[in-house]
Amino acid sequence: MTVDLHSRYGLSATHSEVVEAGKIIEPCDALDMGCSNGRNSIHLSQLGFNITAVDNNPNAIHMLQQIANAEGLTNIQAQVYDLNEADLDSDYGFIACTVTLMFLDPARVGAVIADMQARTLPGGYNLIVCAMSTDEYPCPVPFRFTLGEGELGEAYEGWELVKYNEELGTMHNGAQLMFATLLARKPS
Ligand SMILES: C[S@@+](CC[C@H](N)C(=O)[O-])C[C@H]1O[C@@H](n2cnc3c(N)ncnc32)[C@H](O)[C@@H]1O
Repeated sequence: MTVDLHSRYGLSATHSEVVEAGKIIEPCDALDMGCSNGRNSIHLSQLGFNITAVDNNPNAIHMLQQIANAEGLTNIQAQVYDLNEADLDSDYGFIACTVTLMFLDPARVGAVIADMQARTLPGGYNLIVCAMSTDEYPCPVPFRFTLGEGELGEAYEGWELVKYNEELGTMHNGAQLMFATLLARKPS
């Protein structure tokens, strides 16, 4: 039986899009970009993915390392990394970047996405969830970066869009804003 590590360590539930992606992607080498203290990495680890988890917050990485050590999750490698570098050094079958692009340097987001794409194996997947700002729904949260209408889909031209939507969502504090959600598969 799968142990509920999220409850044991007071972690939020796994992001729903990661749960859904985990149902269709076969376990493989995966990268969790902006992993925080690991709610998504731990879920994927329990499904058998071999996880590299990166975040620029050393405290979050330390907590995830402690959980992985305590629970014997040897398939999680957590490391401090600034995503703005856009200089990944391995290839992955699955790269997840949920609610993280908004915190990056806007001038680097294009390079970050291009690097994700380049570091995805043929037939591999990218999952991105990111806030948007549109004329109808200007983003009410002062994120450093937000996507424009259609922008994320355009960045994945040539990939199979397994899932793509731009929908109104509600944040923990009740603020309403648009989110783009993309699960895309790189051509084999
Ligand atoms: C809202 S949290 C999302 C965490 C996780 N992806 C999830 O779905 O729960 C955003 C994360 O991005 C990380 N982050 C922000 N800027 C970053 C950067 N330049 N490089 C790496 N991680 C960054 C933060 O430390 C934080 O853990």
